[in-house]
Amino acid sequence: MSMDSQVHRITLAGSDQSFGCGSGDVILRSALREGIAFPYECNVGACGNCKFELVDGEVEMVWPDAPGWTERDRERRRYLGCQSVPRGDCTIKMRPAAHYAPVHRPRRVLATLTGRRAITHDIEEFHFQLDADMPFEPGQYALLKLPGVNGQRAYSMSNIAGPRVLHFQIRRVPNGQGTGMLFDSLARGASIEVDGPYGMAYLRRDVKRDILCLAGGSGLAPMISIARSASTEPELAGVKLHFLYGGRTPADVCGRDMLEALPGFGDTLRFEAAVSAAANDWGGHTGFVHELAESMFGDSLRDMEIYFAGPPAMGQAIQRMLLARKVPFGQVHFDQFY
Ligand SMILES: Cc1cc2nc3c(=O)[nH]c(=O)nc-3n(C[C@H](O)[C@H](O)[C@H](O)COP(=O)(O)OP(=O)(O)OC[C@H]3O[C@@H](n4cnc5c(N)ncnc54)[C@H](O)[C@@H]3O)c2cc1C
Ligand code: FES
Repeated sequence: MSMDSQVHRITLAGSDQSFGCGSGDVILRSALREGIAFPYECNVGACGNCKFELVDGEVEMVWPDAPGWTERDRERRRYLGCQSVPRGDCTIKMRPAAHYAPVHRPRRVLATLTGRRAITHDIEEFHFQLDADMPFEPGQYALLKLPGVNGQRAYSMSNIAGPRVLHFQIRRVPNGQGTGMLFDSLARGASIEVDGPYGMAYLRRDVKRDILCLAGGSGLAPMISIARSASTEPELAGVKLHFLYGGRTPADVCGRDMLEALPGFGDTLRFEAAVSAAANDWGGHTGFVHELAESMFGDSLRDMEIYFAGPPAMGQAIQRMLLARKVPFGQVHFDQFY
């Protein structure tokens, strides 16, 4: 066996649980692949939720400059599970939390780019065909390994799980390494590695409350996937879904056409948009999407199941508003974008 194909055993201190971590994989994702409920959120080194303490053994951080890893962590032998590779068998201290138990165990598949289409001036939908199944829940995301790009990039699926197809709606980020590669260099027919699914902000089918989806910018995709699933889910028949989209200008507003194609549009399914920099020709709401949600629903937000996705500033404003309105935390679902 070559060094490259070695599998190291990671043991959870104080328990009889352990899992294998093969080369080319990181501690967090190899734990999730074995069904272990390892806490995390972003998977890209930013949030710090996947920290563990190294009790015994040696690990290497694949991205030592990850914003979620501090000098203090380094001193205390704390590492990010999503960025650390074992150099041998290890013992780690990490408290599994049932909430993070994967609904579908993540797997790595080969994905071929089959097409793309424009959604707005800076968002495009990318279609991939997979060489193996990758079941996922609406609202989850996957990691794309892009040629020549350091690390992986997280993108949420906008379709609902189907026959080996993934759709992503991606906003081009000025000077972004990953989006630059996707928009300018990845040719139709090219294959990349996709790893997923990940994320906790997936549709709760067993909850019968009305649903509120709040999306801004690149947060369109997971909310569209949730709306697509909820509108056809027999368990959610009769549940109303309100979809609110926030953009900076009218040119940023999108999603209505995707919702109009779903059963129940105009009845159980409604779409509203707000823009923060209104133009004269805009006849809709002005302001931020959290302001629109608060003015439309007020205290009845407490009776809704709320999902949101978008830029960090939008996410923080939504959380502050929901906290002030005393919306129970368990009814709010999001994976912060970074
Ligand atoms: C859970 C989640 C879901 C997301 N879903 C979507 C979506 O549906 N649509 C969408 O448009 N965007 C989404 N994003 C944002 C997306 O992942 C990218 O951050 C964004 O596209 C910018 O990437 P970039 O490479 O162009 O920009 P860059 O500025 O080059 O890189 C941005 C990100 O890449 C990571 N990164 C940078 N350097 C390294 C490195 N050396 N090693 C490892 N990682 C590195 C960091 O996390 C950084 O924030 C999501 C993000 C998260 C966390
Ligand atoms: S830093 Fe690892 S999951 Fe966010």
